[in-house]
Amino acid sequence: MGLSTSSEILDLRHFSAAKLRPVLDAEGRIWKERLQWDYRASARLLMQYLDNHMLPGFAAVAAEQVIGYVFCVYEETKAVIGDVFALEHGHEHTDQAHMLEDTLLKHLLELLVNSPQVDRIESQLLLHATGTHSEIFRRAGFDIFSRLFMVQHLAGLWSAPQPNLPSDLELRSWRDEDLAPAARLICDSYRNHPDSLINDQYRSVHGSMRFLNNIVRYSGCGTFSAPVSHVVVHRTSREFMALVLGSRVSQESGHITQLCVHPAYRRHGLARMLLGVAGFHFMRQGATEISLTVTEANQQAISLYNAEGYACTHKFDAAVWER
Ligand SMILES: CC(C)(COP(=O)(O)OP(=O)(O)OC[C@H]1O[C@@H](n2cnc3c(N)ncnc32)[C@H](O)[C@@H]1OP(=O)(O)O)[C@@H](O)C(=O)NCCC(=O)NCCS
Repeated sequence: MGLSTSSEILDLRHFSAAKLRPVLDAEGRIWKERLQWDYRASARLLMQYLDNHMLPGFAAVAAEQVIGYVFCVYEETKAVIGDVFALEHGHEHTDQAHMLEDTLLKHLLELLVNSPQVDRIESQLLLHATGTHSEIFRRAGFDIFSRLFMVQHLAGLWSAPQPNLPSDLELRSWRDEDLAPAARLICDSYRNHPDSLINDQYRSVHGSMRFLNNIVRYSGCGTFSAPVSHVVVHRTSREFMALVLGSRVSQESGHITQLCVHPAYRRHGLARMLLGVAGFHFMRQGATEISLTVTEANQQAISLYNAEGYACTHKFDAAVWER
């Protein structure tokens, strides 16, 4: 009998970090192999939440061992499913493990869809290849959006790119006080954009501030790097017209967590220049590659990344449900 039928699904808040450790370690190995991503920082954060018995979700338990988990976090009336992962009896990650992950997801989706205070659910399961869990989401009424994980190998960026900016703009690296103007730029850049269907934080300045706080202050997506991150400022209004944000996700790899240009300054080469600047600083830090994620429907950005030498190495799904 498969583990997906012989395991019990229990409330995640009953389990300490130590109980989850073998699962998190196995998952970390796959993050490294598939995405060049060091999962240990995220695992440490999760373990703190687990030890505080604060993480909503479910654990799969067989023979008194935790063999899988799923969790979510709440942001006001939205729930974000952070991750799902299952072991196959201590071995590899195969179809049987995927079935158990489906079972875990099913429990969490049932809980969330039946929680009257939850009016939106978002999920981006970056580790899992597109299609792996889409059926479970579709059956629960979610829309699915395909996303690409793209990688550029860094080579030959030994001198800083010379920015050729319009005369009313200036370039500088990220400062602590940049959150508010950056949030205004994100909100302006993502109006009627496919990514604001996937992440509703992009639809307001308040939401964009939340997104930025998570990336910049709480290292929600790797370790934020201020020297890599740059903004393009309008000399008179001091408003931001473009920005790139970068984080380190492993010793080898940097990740672009945000790139956007104000609609008034598109097709002036700003995004290409910012990617070059970020690449140069990642390389100075010793990274050998850069990754980023992009929605398949965002063909303009994909054209840019292809032109800059990024290639798609992995596809995954974003899923969204609204009451
Ligand atoms: C995608 C985005 C960052 C591009 O910024 P930009 O400064 O206008 O891009 P650049 O001028 O540097 O363009 C560089 C190349 O990208 C491609 N490109 C950019 N915009 C394009 C468009 N609208 N249509 C087709 N190709 C486009 C072209 O290959 C272009 O080279 P070319 O102008 O020599 O033909 C900008 O449109 C944006 O902010 N969009 C909303 C936010 C977003 O999607 N961010 C990326 C999330 S992953």
